[in-house]
Amino acid sequence: QGLHSLFVAAGKVYFGTAIETNNFNDSAYLAIANNKNEFGMYVPENSQKWGPIQPAPRQFAFASPDAVAAKAKANGQMFRCHTLTWHSQLPTFVANGTWTRDTLAAVIQTHIANVMGHYRGLCYSWDVVNEALNDNGTLRNSVFFQTLGTDYIPLSFAAAALVDPTTKLYYNDFNLETIKAKADGAVKIVQLVQAAGVPIHGLGFQAHFRVAQTPSQASLVATLERFTTLGLEVTFSELDIAQQLPTNDTSLQQQSRDYVTVVAACLAVPKCVGITLWQFTDKYSWIPSTFPGLGDACLFTADFVKKPAYSAVASFLAAA
Ligand code: G3I
Repeated sequence: QGLHSLFVAAGKVYFGTAIETNNFNDSAYLAIANNKNEFGMYVPENSQKWGPIQPAPRQFAFASPDAVAAKAKANGQMFRCHTLTWHSQLPTFVANGTWTRDTLAAVIQTHIANVMGHYRGLCYSWDVVNEALNDNGTLRNSVFFQTLGTDYIPLSFAAAALVDPTTKLYYNDFNLETIKAKADGAVKIVQLVQAAGVPIHGLGFQAHFRVAQTPSQASLVATLERFTTLGLEVTFSELDIAQQLPTNDTSLQQQSRDYVTVVAACLAVPKCVGITLWQFTDKYSWIPSTFPGLGDACLFTADFVKKPAYSAVASFLAAA
């Protein structure tokens, strides 16, 4: 038994984790990551992003994400793909280029055609557009927005739909669960794509939460349902729940309740298909380097010991 097999038994499609090839030389890590009862889905943490995968015009670096895809296949796990049009981790040729509407649209279309084309038929879903929103619900002033206005969003989804009609096309963002204005912005994005007659199938809620500040189950369910009402499936795509260091028994117990809250919210929404952890061990969590003083966000310690939150989620699912 493991989190994936328990989640599937409770009616869901997958419980997964972010992973990267620089984790592949860690045998203790792999002993857990390779267990498909634990994790039924992989997403590459970085290597499918634009900068790593197309560092220079029409130069593609597929070796690292291919290795993640191959491991998922060898283990019988699903594969989530992340991400195509995103303002961050862009190569300098895109970030610092001089663009017109037509030239930037062509560059986006070329990127999507080549990257999605390479993985055609392999990805359960693609995060087509990532983090387009400011917290106040307006669109981020990225190179894409500056040049193409809102058009870059339906344009990206249309390009994606042409390349791989077998994968689910997602919009993915953070703080949608906690800031209503931002969720309002995401609703507008979905409506914009739908009004253009272009497919959008899913909404990824990144779920980068903080211990004791995780939204309630009712609030999470209400937010997810705003999007299932629009005809989409939903997922918690990058779940971790960070806390102040050092941790203590009280904070670890609160973290357990917070993780169970998120898992319960997905269970309560029929069109919530799955959950992906943004790494399962504190050893490789992005949190401490980005937010000094915070950490211990994952379900396993840096020494690969299951935390109280792991046990709480497993017990909750076993009883579900
Ligand atoms: O690979 C280079 C290495 O060659 C270089 O020596 C080193 C020096 O800085 O950097 C390495 O790249 C780092 C990369 O992670 C791989 O480790 C980047 O600096 C670092 O910025 C990058 O951080 C990633 C971050 O996205 C970038 O925005 C995190 O690992 C990754 O967890 C994080 O993931 C994002 C999701 O994609 C989108 N949602 C938010 C989430 C957390 O920020």
